[in-house]
Amino acid sequence: MIFPIVLYGSPVLKKKAATIERGDEFLGKLVESMFETMYEAQGVGLAAPQISHSVRLFVVDTTPIEEEGIDGLKKVFINPLMIEELGEEWAFEEGCLSIPGIRANVNRKAGIRIKYYDENWGEYEDHFYGIKARVIQHEYDHIEGKLFTDYLTPLKKRLIKGRLADISKGKVDVNYRVKAPK
Ligand code: NI
Repeated sequence: MIFPIVLYGSPVLKKKAATIERGDEFLGKLVESMFETMYEAQGVGLAAPQISHSVRLFVVDTTPIEEEGIDGLKKVFINPLMIEELGEEWAFEEGCLSIPGIRANVNRKAGIRIKYYDENWGEYEDHFYGIKARVIQHEYDHIEGKLFTDYLTPLKKRLIKGRLADISKGKVDVNYRVKAPK
């Protein structure tokens, strides 16, 4: 099922999401819907709060933005725990399906070590670097109630203030279903 993606200004995007209970019978269906919704919107990552579900779950598929010859990472992260972020900070231009039309450089560390479960409650601890780490860091922020715009300088924030206000009124030009805050 394809869900509408909530836009900037929606309270659910600023909320710390809740842990998912093991045995949640709707989890499989939700994961499936998350991938469908992400692909429909041509995103490389989607967090559950973006479809109005304030739970600790996100999906990623970095295939479209990997360099040629490098495999993408397609994965589900359930109740993830960021153990550490390591390496030098680097700038990468981020965007967000909840903030269409705005992109900005964000500095983040190059690598991460993260613990998480998959949809069958298999437990993993992995390292990721580069683009893969970047997408995961962005999605992890979503379940912590954080957006990439939170990292911008006061000047940059001032420059995009009007556009953010438009987005929160639903004035966006996208090819996927969206839901503006009331
Ligand atoms: Ni995002």
